[in-house]
Amino acid sequence: MRIIITDSYRQMGREAANMVAGQLYLKPDSVLGLATGSTPLPMYRRLIALHRSLGLDFSEVTTFNFDEYVGMAPDNPQSYHYFMNENFFRKVNIQPDHTHLPDGMVKDLEAEGHRYDALIQQNGGIDLQVLGIGQNAHIGFNEPDVKFEARTHCVALDEETIRANSRFFESPDEVPRDAISMGIKTIMMARRILLLANGTSKAEAVRKAVCSSVRPEAPASILQLHRDVTVILDRAAASHLPTHIEGTKIIHKNNGKNTTFSS
Ligand code: F6R
Repeated sequence: MRIIITDSYRQMGREAANMVAGQLYLKPDSVLGLATGSTPLPMYRRLIALHRSLGLDFSEVTTFNFDEYVGMAPDNPQSYHYFMNENFFRKVNIQPDHTHLPDGMVKDLEAEGHRYDALIQQNGGIDLQVLGIGQNAHIGFNEPDVKFEARTHCVALDEETIRANSRFFESPDEVPRDAISMGIKTIMMARRILLLANGTSKAEAVRKAVCSSVRPEAPASILQLHRDVTVILDRAAASHLPTHIEGTKIIHKNNGKNTTFSS
């Protein structure tokens, strides 16, 4: 694991976008795993800027998003389909039929999970998976006490997640109770993983992800067992981390420049 600590939310987004851009220069037809929520927004903004200023090319890219609320149509402004179209897809030259999200409107959600995993495999698997993290250390909607072997499946959202996501709705009652989400196994099969977090509300979840014991109560802790994980944080999200973590390189960046390393 490699941890990059930046001085702001914006800088976290820039570092993340640079990693995605590097992946696309090396492999223009990359398969990206993408997340919604407020965490990756500055990364999407920066990728759009790189597309406009440097011609970063998405024409051969394929994407798979993590999750979607159950019962929410793609044209509903609260849906993750809508979020991705508005914040990213519409603003770069990605082919719409290369963008995928699980379908939360189908009756048979189990079959939808199988279809989604099979489609990822048919596309060669995910090259780079971008992840946010919940305050309860969820990744995707894999809530505490998750089954590590699960693939894309239907999940009941945790009360903490409903509370956290209610900021995007008029009231907590409007937050859907279920979602369809990639499972931990789907995530762990990605070749590279990029975990992003910002703000003090995520500091404890980040600590659990990178240096607590690996256990289902802290779903993100499984990432310690993946061979290629980069964690990009702002200072607030890194505030509960110790200075040294066995086997982990920690890079501090100020204004985009590497300042200190420890491992
Ligand atoms: C979103 C997702 C979630 C979020 C997490 C953090 O697709 O899968 O795991 O990454 O809930 O959400 P934000 O970024 O809004 O704090």
